[in-house]
Amino acid sequence: MVQLNLPKNSEVKKGKYFKDKTGSKNLRRVNVYRWDPSTEENPRIDTYEVDMDNCPSKVLDILNKIKNEIDPTLAYRRSCAHGVCGSCAMNMGGKNGLACTTPHSEIDGDIDIYPLPHLKVKRDLIGDLDGLYKQYQSIEPWLKNNSKKETTEIYQSQEDRAKLDGAWLLLQHFLLSADEEKTCSTKL
Ligand code: FES
Repeated sequence: MVQLNLPKNSEVKKGKYFKDKTGSKNLRRVNVYRWDPSTEENPRIDTYEVDMDNCPSKVLDILNKIKNEIDPTLAYRRSCAHGVCGSCAMNMGGKNGLACTTPHSEIDGDIDIYPLPHLKVKRDLIGDLDGLYKQYQSIEPWLKNNSKKETTEIYQSQEDRAKLDGAWLLLQHFLLSADEEKTCSTKL
């Protein structure tokens, strides 16, 4: 099981079971970590039966389907849905990855979904990114030029643009930060 950064003394309990109401013959069980700090309750694992006949291919599609059709209280981050922003990083089937690029067909059996390990959990699948944003701030991750004052638009040459190839991986920082091995071996 995933090692989570849980509040002291908290124990993950068995949660609610959401049975399929569509009558689909093509169901998958999806187990999702749930925790709401505004209650005194322990974290729990809720289980959802999801109709896969009407679900696109990625894990994020499953979460969207659960939120839109089964349980609107589920909380998770997502933005670009194209593997660029890194906001949907989470742990799926025991591996860290981006929910918007991870095919659910690659996960055997029940689909277990947890927040990223090593981050404090704010709620459900949402990790606390405050520390990471502070790190971002400290490295000043924006383009700078050598001229003292900019008074006009500065055009970027194709050669200068090529120097940025690969740097977009920084945007997956939230995922990499939870995976020490990748963080250390990824050259940016
Ligand atoms: S939503 Fe942006 S990387 Fe998944």
